[in-house]
Amino acid sequence: MNRNILDVDNLHKSFGRSAILNGVTFSIPEGEISSIIGPNGAGKTTLFNVITGLYAPNKGSISFNGRNIVGLQPYQIVPLGIAKAFQITSIFPRLTVWENILAAVITHRKKNLDFMTPLSKLAPINERAQELLDSVGLSDYAQYQSGTLAHGNQKRLDIALSLALSPKLLLLDEPTAGMSPEERRDTVILIKNLWERLNITMLFIEHDMDIVFGISQKVRVLCYGVLIAEGTPDEISRNPKVIEVYLGEGD
Ligand SMILES: Nc1ncnc2c1ncn2[C@@H]1O[C@H](COP(=O)(O)OP(=O)(O)O)[C@@H](O)[C@H]1O
Ligand SMILES: [Mg+2]
Repeated sequence: MNRNILDVDNLHKSFGRSAILNGVTFSIPEGEISSIIGPNGAGKTTLFNVITGLYAPNKGSISFNGRNIVGLQPYQIVPLGIAKAFQITSIFPRLTVWENILAAVITHRKKNLDFMTPLSKLAPINERAQELLDSVGLSDYAQYQSGTLAHGNQKRLDIALSLALSPKLLLLDEPTAGMSPEERRDTVILIKNLWERLNITMLFIEHDMDIVFGISQKVRVLCYGVLIAEGTPDEISRNPKVIEVYLGEGD
């Protein structure tokens, strides 16, 4: 068993008087690909927002690689190796795909580049940008204006921008939301491929049960702020509590 990359212990988060997370505890072993499912409003996105430092929890601890990250700001958490796709990064719609990726790589490496920068310093940046472009299958679109890409390709670009941060843990909040069935299938294949090749831990929130059961090693079920089940897809699909509160709804 790998050591844990993430330990969440007794996490509480309220907005005003509403308790959104109510004592959430789980651990993720390094290298795992897993999902969080649960009804709308269960607190899934809030959990991601607390892990990435956007919101401070009211109580509880979060350790990343054994280090407590509660109290850190998002800009301090990202460099430790946690990235959230579709939020931390944002696409500049008027820039080309290539320019967007280049900007993300440069920002991550904190290089102050100008027109006097020697080419020898640019080469590794260009290589990295090309590698990211290839890894999400957007090489043919490098010179397209990003805002004109189809929805599925914009999500691919967004994944590339998150990967530019060299995360050890990548959080994906509903990566296939709003996609056509074909884009959905392609995105799932992409995510699985990236996970296999890049040696990173992935945690995603997803509604589509075929996707959840197809690519998760482990599934966690969050129901109104409480984790009610955790297990392999097979265990989860047979769990009476899960069937009652969630799968049984025909969601
Ligand atoms: N910033 C916020 N301020 C107040 N309430 C919030 C905020 N973010 C989320 N909530 C509330 O928390 C609950 C859970 O939301 P969310 O985490 O987005 O659920 P999910 O992602 O599981 O659908 C919802 O009732 C939502 O209205
Ligand atoms: Mg959500």
